Amino acid sequence: METPIMQLTDIGKHFCSIKALSNVSIKIIQGECHCLLGDNGAGKSTFIKIMSGVHQPTSGQIYFSGEMTTIESPRSAIDSGIATVYQDLAMIPLMSVMRNFWLGRELVKNIGPFKIMDTKKCNAILMQEMEKMGISLHDPSQSVGTLSGGEKQSVAIARAVYFGAKVLILDEPTSALGVYQTEKVLKTIAKVREKGIAVVFISHNVNHALEVGDKFTVLCRGKTLGTAVRGKIDYAQLQYMMSGEKLN
Ligand SMILES: Nc1ncnc2c1ncn2[C@@H]1O[C@H](COP(=O)(O)OP(=O)(O)O)[C@@H](O)[C@H]1O
Ligand SMILES: [Mg+2]
Repeated sequence: METPIMQLTDIGKHFCSIKALSNVSIKIIQGECHCLLGDNGAGKSTFIKIMSGVHQPTSGQIYFSGEMTTIESPRSAIDSGIATVYQDLAMIPLMSVMRNFWLGRELVKNIGPFKIMDTKKCNAILMQEMEKMGISLHDPSQSVGTLSGGEKQSVAIARAVYFGAKVLILDEPTSALGVYQTEKVLKTIAKVREKGIAVVFISHNVNHALEVGDKFTVLCRGKTLGTAVRGKIDYAQLQYMMSGEKLN
């Protein structure tokens, strides 16, 4: 069997007396879209913050490419190829799409003794990367604030992919979007998966998850009942698992 790119075993997380997660295990495989489903407060964001080095788990183990590891900080997660796109995107609305894409990593060229930003090249790569995601931008110099919610998500996803993400974590990328924008983002997710990147897609919308997911892990009040595989589970079962404890 293929070694998971990332595996988290028996993860627990307490915030003082609040038990946000207990004994959550998940295996992330390259080229698969793994959906993490759950109602508000189920522990989804806490779990991916552990995957991305924002929080340390209270208990449990993390393996990356088969080796046990600790993810000490968001920086070390990024350096290992774990990229996260949060609900409230880390983007600067008044800055151009191009500058938001590069964010301090802009390409430079030499003019005599000076180094200046190679705007032409930066723009060209941005347009090319967005094209690969199926999005045609009108103008790389337009400010990010003028993009639709779905386009912003796609820029953040394209940025993570271009800078070498192996595991791309998306925290509720479709929750604030309308039907048309949601479709665009789901198509972008499918494209990322085709590149062999592992996608962890957090959602509380079962329909969105079923559209792109290969595996489904449901969190309910910090616990999981395990992982289901595409085709072996349907809408009603996933919906029931998400609200299971309430029905008891
Ligand atoms: N930094 C924190 N301090 C205290 N409690 C927290 C913190 N982060 C999350 N929680 C609690 O952990 C539980 C799970 O939250 P969260 O992971 O945000 O859920 P979800 O993303 O599924 O909506 C909630 O009860 C929330 O109040
Ligand atoms: Mg959340």
